Amino acid sequence: MNCSLTTLFKDVRQWIILREMGYFDDQSGILRRYRRERDGWDAHLQRTRDFALQAAAKAERHDSAIVLGSGWLLDVPLKELSAMFGKVTLVDVRHPFSVRCQARKLGNVELQTCDISGFAMPVYRYVRKYRNKRQPPVPNIIQPQGRLELSGYDFVFSCNLLSQLDILLTDYLLRFFRFDEATVITFLREVQRLHIESLPKQRSCLVTDFEEKTYAANGVELGRKPLVYHPIIGRTDACRWRWLFDSAMTYYPDKKTSFEVLAVEL
Ligand SMILES: C[S@@+](CC[C@H](N)C(=O)[O-])C[C@H]1O[C@@H](n2cnc3c(N)ncnc32)[C@H](O)[C@@H]1O
Repeated sequence: MNCSLTTLFKDVRQWIILREMGYFDDQSGILRRYRRERDGWDAHLQRTRDFALQAAAKAERHDSAIVLGSGWLLDVPLKELSAMFGKVTLVDVRHPFSVRCQARKLGNVELQTCDISGFAMPVYRYVRKYRNKRQPPVPNIIQPQGRLELSGYDFVFSCNLLSQLDILLTDYLLRFFRFDEATVITFLREVQRLHIESLPKQRSCLVTDFEEKTYAANGVELGRKPLVYHPIIGRTDACRWRWLFDSAMTYYPDKKTSFEVLAVEL
């Protein structure tokens, strides 16, 4: 078989696996929810864009920038970044058609399609190997593969991605295994640590939700759940704001949901 056919089969297989793991539904869900929840989302999206631009302006060189988790570009100031940098790379598991069109128009925007965490395929293989075993090993044995090399970029923007990286993996694992909470947290802590450590120092910024809050219809707080398990959430110089994520009570039945968001330069 020639090389391009092998690559094509590998890409198609990966696409099927990512779809099965819920990556594409999750991305489509983001746009659907945004359309329903625009009023609560717009301030958060604008603050994310503003934060990224002020961090990008501080870059020492302006040859290349990369955006991790670009999705629908709701929170990505693409036009501005494309004017600021010689080349902008957008990375996601899938690039929607509208984003492909915008990238083509701007001329200096390229698209990279991959799993940023490096854990998706290893998690899928782990599930296949152990799903029928009584006592699977702890998921912390799973090693990432083919992670992104970010050291060559002048500016790296991790864009509302961090908590997504582990949720999709742990949700998939929990479809097949009953791990206790501590085991799940140990695994997701590692996924988050590796992502944060992959961001080059003095050239990166990260925006992420780090705590979920739920409320009754009358506004009384019902609970809080940490989403990020890394000391970065204690950074005293971080910008912080609240994202009114779900007012229609569809994310959790009978509860409204908001996220606390953190933005830091690394
Ligand atoms: C919460 S969204 C961020 C909002 C996004 N910038 C937008 O405007 O739609 C997270 C994005 O990260 C992508 N994503 C999640 N996990 C990923 C992974 N492991 N590798 C690459 N992209 C991932 C999703 O497909 C989604 O587009």
